[in-house]
Amino acid sequence: MFNLVIFGAPGSGKGTQSGNITEKYGFIHLSTGDLLRAEKKSGTALGEQIKTLIDAGNLVPDEIIQEMVKNFVHNNKNAKGFIFDGFPRTSSQAVWLDQMLEEANTKISLMLLLDVSEEELKKRILLRGEQSSRADDANEKIIENRIKVYNKQTAPIMDYYKEQNKYYRVDGKGKLDKVFENICTILQAFV
Ligand code: AP5
Ligand code: MG
Repeated sequence: MFNLVIFGAPGSGKGTQSGNITEKYGFIHLSTGDLLRAEKKSGTALGEQIKTLIDAGNLVPDEIIQEMVKNFVHNNKNAKGFIFDGFPRTSSQAVWLDQMLEEANTKISLMLLLDVSEEELKKRILLRGEQSSRADDANEKIIENRIKVYNKQTAPIMDYYKEQNKYYRVDGKGKLDKVFENICTILQAFV
């Protein structure tokens, strides 16, 4: 079984490229941001709790998101592979994910960083914010907080995957097709 962690700052193209990878290889796309936004929309008490955090660009507690990831994986038992987009986002989520996959007799195949400069990230998110309904795209202050949270809590996980020799990087700037081509060149060795 193939399991990819698609990694990168907010706006780096994780969702966009996950769509391309899913279409080409038939893996299942697990976006924790999408799961959380769906919960938020549902109007439950949990949804309300989540809303305050994600609208400000802060992370939800590990336990909440881990429960969602576990359910998602269990509900897709026949998947030939998963693309983890937006997860893990903290060191403890990374350790938890390895344990959860081990219990399911599988493991992470590789982690792929989409490397994009902060200037470009802001530009992309502000552009999308002009049309999107995502509250966390609404203004520069929230976008800057998302990038700050990424640098502080999420970026250090790269070392965790480097230690396991699972770290790969592509230049995430440039044309969508070119980025995807570079991703496929790396994935070819694994699928
Ligand atoms: P999440 O939904 O994961 O958002 P994010 O990481 O902030 O990233 P985005 O979805 O905005 O960007 P992306 O990298 O997917 O890029 P995209 O393809 O959209 O998380 C949202 C929130 O949920 C978090 O802040 C947190 O609160 C919570 N959360 C989620 N997971 C969590 C977890 N594990 N633990 C705790 N909390 C969690 O592209 C962006 C834009 O750029 C698009 O408009 C796209 O068209 C454009 N674009 C893409 N590629 C290119 C290119 N090559 N050239 C030009 N434009 C491009
Ligand atoms: Mg996304």
